[in-house]
Amino acid sequence: MSTMKAVWISKFGGPEVLEIREVVKPEVAGAQVLVRVRASALNRADLLQRAGKYPPPFGYRQEIPGMEFAGEVAEVGPGVQMWKPGHRVFGLTGGEAQAEYVVTHERLLAEVPGNLDWAEAASIPEAFITAHDGLWTQAQLRPAETVLIHSVGSGVGLAAVQLVRAMRAVPYGTSRTADKITQSKQYGLEEGLVVRENFDDLVTEANKWTAGKGINVVLDLAGGPYVRASQKLMALKGRMLLVGTVAGGSYELDSRFVMGKRLQIRGTVLRARSLEEKIEVTQSFAAEVVPLFAQGVLRATIDSKFKLADIAKAHERLESNQTLGKVVIEI
Ligand SMILES: NC(=O)c1ccc[n+]([C@@H]2O[C@H](COP(=O)([O-])OP(=O)(O)OC[C@H]3O[C@@H](n4cnc5c(N)ncnc54)[C@H](OP(=O)(O)O)[C@@H]3O)[C@@H](O)[C@H]2O)c1
Repeated sequence: MSTMKAVWISKFGGPEVLEIREVVKPEVAGAQVLVRVRASALNRADLLQRAGKYPPPFGYRQEIPGMEFAGEVAEVGPGVQMWKPGHRVFGLTGGEAQAEYVVTHERLLAEVPGNLDWAEAASIPEAFITAHDGLWTQAQLRPAETVLIHSVGSGVGLAAVQLVRAMRAVPYGTSRTADKITQSKQYGLEEGLVVRENFDDLVTEANKWTAGKGINVVLDLAGGPYVRASQKLMALKGRMLLVGTVAGGSYELDSRFVMGKRLQIRGTVLRARSLEEKIEVTQSFAAEVVPLFAQGVLRATIDSKFKLADIAKAHERLESNQTLGKVVIEI
């Protein structure tokens, strides 16, 4: 039986519980592909999984985290039609991507454009698929509309800024950190506001940004008070996508805004979706987003890179809330 190196959550706790272990290498069957992972990226879900607060979907080992990767096809199952050994691929998985090898369904992969290195490619799937599915597919964003992105300097936030621009719409954002607003402008952010406890200025500012029309689409990556404030600043028939809960999981809605403005408020998650749904978002990503990377319209947003052995430091970096974009693990 062959083995591989993998990140291993030895018990639930802080970054110190993370180890690198020699574990059984997965094998391919049917329409599966074995990928030699060259890089993976961190997500908030990995931090929660490490703390015992977010188990992976059925079929994935709790001990090995990792929800996205880029690498080379190493082996293909007998039913695989799309890939051959050596192809450069990237994608999402329910878990186990922070290892030398990962097995996945062939239709959950997209081809990495030649102009992206491994670290850049690994930083893309979770952030860009979440933002693309939320904004382009679910919110049906249209050119010239306005979008407000909460936690704009996050991985998903910077992907969203670029996808809003790619749609010829106008991105605004919030962060608790002034420098992240400034830095986000290099990715296309029009204007932003630093918010902490007090959201009063946000409604005034959004009215200024939109000449009183209100915001068409809110991409909420924070939750709690951000949602409460957002309902007040939205345009008639605005769409609000609820994607994150770092600032809280409960929302107070007021029918004056929700009904009066005929708002659509929708929650979304990627990890818990069925195989068919994940294939659908991956194929839309491959068709609509990947070519924009190949053309240089979109850019990877890397905050920092760590070697596999420094996985604990990578978790500390993401937990610091100082990151701008993605934390990448090179394998
Ligand atoms: N539903 C899904 O399928 C899905 C998929 C991917 C991600 N997500 C969620 O989307 C969000 C963004 O993900 P990401 O990986 O891009 O995040 P990230 O890069 O880790 O950035 C998150 C940012 O949120 C801000 N933040 C942290 N704690 C906060 C708090 N208590 N109150 C307000 N802001 C806080 C911090 O920026 P500042 O302090 O500078 O503002 C932090 O840098 C997360 O909530 C994540 O769980 C959901």
